[in-house]
Amino acid sequence: MSNPSLLILPGDGIGPEVMTEVVKIIDWFGAKRGITFDVSTDLVGGAAYDKHGVPLHDDTMAKAQEADAVLLGAVGGPAYDNLDFSVKPERGLLRLRKEMDLFANLRPAQCFDALADFSSLKKDIVAGLDIMIVRELTSGVYFGEPRGIFKEGNERVGINTQRYTESEIDRIARAAFELARKRGNKVCSMEKANVMESGILWREVVQKVHDEDYADVELSHMYADNGAMQLVRAPKQFDVIVTDNLFGDILSDCAAMLTGSLGMLPSASLGAPMANGRPKAMYEPVHGSAPDITGQGKANPIACILSFAMALRYSFDMGDEATRVEKAVEKVLADGLRTADLLGNEGETPISTTEMGDAIVIALDASL
Ligand code: IPM
Ligand code: MG
Repeated sequence: MSNPSLLILPGDGIGPEVMTEVVKIIDWFGAKRGITFDVSTDLVGGAAYDKHGVPLHDDTMAKAQEADAVLLGAVGGPAYDNLDFSVKPERGLLRLRKEMDLFANLRPAQCFDALADFSSLKKDIVAGLDIMIVRELTSGVYFGEPRGIFKEGNERVGINTQRYTESEIDRIARAAFELARKRGNKVCSMEKANVMESGILWREVVQKVHDEDYADVELSHMYADNGAMQLVRAPKQFDVIVTDNLFGDILSDCAAMLTGSLGMLPSASLGAPMANGRPKAMYEPVHGSAPDITGQGKANPIACILSFAMALRYSFDMGDEATRVEKAVEKVLADGLRTADLLGNEGETPISTTEMGDAIVIALDASL
């Protein structure tokens, strides 16, 4: 059997810096565990625009469709702010999600013990936190038509459309219920059924899927604004949260911060199974390109490294090896190693992106 293939798209900003550290982990698996991937690297976002004039070249799109898993760093940056909307770096990322049909975006927010003090919330509210946000990723207001900026009388109007079909809601609900069964067996679905018809349909379909096929899972519904409030009031009440594309974008940033830093949160975007049984998949840290710290060795590579761990678990059925990576991260944090984003008190010295990657490799060695 040939090695599984990985397409690496470092992208923009801190993307390439954090991806360099992930490659160390991938190489470690080859050298020490006999787990070898066929790795290729390509451009996405502003980096692709600079070379090709588009944020994702068709050849790269084709490679992504072929790969067993895609690892993406980050896209975007101030240099691209004034580009036409159709070629903005973010369009490259959205095209990957849409054309690979990666409808289920898994964003786990876990609070590592060593960082419980570091959250902006009180320690007892976040200690032991382990929630999973399941965000619908290929529909809703991100893709709905009509969209655009149009002329209306003597002024312009900006339009986006929130649109969900029953089958789109059905499949994301199933993904959430399946995950819940492997965790705390609880799903909270969030929408705005009080003001949006799409929210009414969302609630109805999630309830129907539950009653027909997942009655063993505990289901609740919440308006998304209340959900945001509950996430900072008492986040441990949640196990799996399932929500739409836009609410999921917002709620997952909020959940990420509960854990101490956006630099810690990985994600997996999964689609339907391919011919080889593996799901179409892309893994990326939730943090963005962070132009303010790019090139300074300050970026935290942990979110991206944990994204690779998710690839081991969800694409390659190597849950034990994924846990090995997660434990290595836990160990370096417990040892007090911190990148700049994880420093609370003045006088503490941060380690660099590279040093964090190296420390995790040493912790992996110690796990053997
Ligand atoms: C995310 C990001 C993206 C999104 C941007 C970069 C297009 O914020 O993955 O959460 O809005 O989905
Ligand atoms: Mg976001």
